[in-house]
Amino acid sequence: MKEHYSIAIDGPSGAGKSTLARILARRLNFIYVDTGAIYRTVGLDAWRRGIDSRDEPGVVALLDGIRITFACSEGLQRMELNGEDVTEEIRAHVISRYASDVSAMPPVRAFLLQMQRDAAAENNVIMDGRDIGTVVLPDADMKIFLTATPEERARRRWLELQERGEDASLEQVLADVNQRDYNDTHRAAAPLRQAEDAVLVDTTGMTLEEVSDYLETMIREKLAL
Ligand code: DC
Repeated sequence: MKEHYSIAIDGPSGAGKSTLARILARRLNFIYVDTGAIYRTVGLDAWRRGIDSRDEPGVVALLDGIRITFACSEGLQRMELNGEDVTEEIRAHVISRYASDVSAMPPVRAFLLQMQRDAAAENNVIMDGRDIGTVVLPDADMKIFLTATPEERARRRWLELQERGEDASLEQVLADVNQRDYNDTHRAAAPLRQAEDAVLVDTTGMTLEEVSDYLETMIREKLAL
């Protein structure tokens, strides 16, 4: 038996990665690590300090004084920024854009890399993000690339924002989804792409139940769990 198993789930925003990873982690008794939340925490710090999201020297200068910690319990990952719980605040709409911009900066990615690898070294993990299968955990035991059409992903994200009481039109959210897809796939540093050995799963038109059952079966077979 291997000491620890790791499962990488990558894909564009709104494909259902975090919801599915959380469900699967619970069913398999793995720890769920949401790497997007870590980038969001850096983005939040930049936004709070009034630094432009594309000001790379400004953002990089922050890294020296930033302390990010996360604790995973019961499927909920609490994020702390310099000791303050920012779990809710990093979900704000404006922080999505900040996270996308700061995540394109190579020093930011380098700064966060070890933190992500450490989490996988000590636990059975399901980790989701954009470059988990390609960069963070190239030796992951199972790699999944989740996707769905931009329209479906925008609709899901819009519903989420509605529930949180944030006011944004569906058109605006779709425009943001397209912009973030472009940013995430075209950046020079660790762009979003499917690892060669990842299984592609398109969740358009599938219910959460259908996708989670399908993925659970696939993982149990592959890892002999
Ligand atoms: O999954 P999310 O929307 O919470 O991620 C926020 C941003 O962080 C997203 O624009 C892409 C970026 N990200 C990344 O570059 N690499 C990761 N492993 C996870 C997220």
